[in-house]
Amino acid sequence: MNVVLGVTGGIAAYKAAELARALMERGFSVQTVMTAGAQQFVRPLTFAALTGKKVITSLFEGSTGEDVLASSVEHIRVAQENEVLVVAPASADVLAKFAYGLADDFLTTMYLAFTGQVVLAPAMNTSMWNHPATQENIRTLRERGHRIIEPAEGLLACGTTGPGRLPEPELIAEVVASVAANRHDLEGETLLITAGPTQEPLDPVRYISNRSSGKMGYALAEEAVSRGARVILISGPVHLPAPFGAELIRVHTAVEMRQAVMDHLEPATIIVKSAAVADYYRPNAPRQKVKKTPALLSVELEPTPDILAEVGRNKGDRLLIGFAAETQNLTAEARRKCETKNCDMVVANLVTDQSIGFESDLNEVTLVLRNGETIPLERAPKRAVAARIFDAIGKLRLALHATR
Ligand code: CTP
Repeated sequence: MNVVLGVTGGIAAYKAAELARALMERGFSVQTVMTAGAQQFVRPLTFAALTGKKVITSLFEGSTGEDVLASSVEHIRVAQENEVLVVAPASADVLAKFAYGLADDFLTTMYLAFTGQVVLAPAMNTSMWNHPATQENIRTLRERGHRIIEPAEGLLACGTTGPGRLPEPELIAEVVASVAANRHDLEGETLLITAGPTQEPLDPVRYISNRSSGKMGYALAEEAVSRGARVILISGPVHLPAPFGAELIRVHTAVEMRQAVMDHLEPATIIVKSAAVADYYRPNAPRQKVKKTPALLSVELEPTPDILAEVGRNKGDRLLIGFAAETQNLTAEARRKCETKNCDMVVANLVTDQSIGFESDLNEVTLVLRNGETIPLERAPKRAVAARIFDAIGKLRLALHATR
């Protein structure tokens, strides 16, 4: 499979070298195209050495003498010979040019002649990313069917913190692989996915909750959308942008989450319960703020509804995937949950390792199937883990359809 790697000007251009390597490792043949800006940050030689191919740096390269004809159609040749175009980092400038069809260098000219799949990984300063002009261009490009990999949040080269960082090269390579494989295996399915924590009020200003960030559930929703499913995402309070293409329903409490799940059960064919539902809530939480007193305060709590168990009792011929966050006896606990809650599969993760799970962008899970089979997945970005989970769900789905 042939991929064009477009590199534009930005501090993250150096990460594109790692992306080139990650793509090569996945068996892609990589043709690098660098804009003039990109060449200010990294040398073409780096990419040439990694990919074994001459890097294209200009529209008019070699356009003198007898090469004139060859170079004048080079952008058409590259457009025709490659199945995927990935631009990483994609600057605000290249997004604007793609959106408006401007063609003043090799990358933008080739883009207009390109008919394959396009993946864009924007990276820039947070204010540039949030600017209405950039957001408008992103909308246009999404509507054109291009895959936008949202920038990650973090400390940026300009010293500010916020969205704008180029996501990990491994993640971008995984999205390219998924797009290239044209994994549309969830077409016709309706996915009901729950994500994030729930918050259970103690009074109007305080609540009980947990450390779930929602990242795993949102990655699952994005992956399911990209595989062609209709996705209904029921999310507790998180600080994440709405996944493009998913129907997002926001809830706060376990009771609200249960209601939203039950209201949307009917159309669902696959249910993935990645939410970390709070296990207890305070019934009749006072309407006024509880005042501090020197005395010890004890709070009476009741168990929240077990949504997974209830769905398990009413699942019919739907596929039901539960999650299990454990601190010990991982597979034994997951097996027990799979059985008692009538799941087809449980995604189990050990939450004692701080570098994975909850707030992390990485995860390492074991899939526990109803027949007792366990599939350990290696540590990877959550989006890549989501892809592996859907690969496994795809197999369960085929088996289910075969028995119908
Ligand atoms: N879950 C749910 N409703 C709850 C609690 C959990 O639907 N009130 C779901 C979660 O979305 C997850 C699965 O149950 O898919 C496992 O959650 P977990 O907290 O690990 O399990 P518990 O059932 O609470 O089991 P235990 O406390 O025994 O570990």
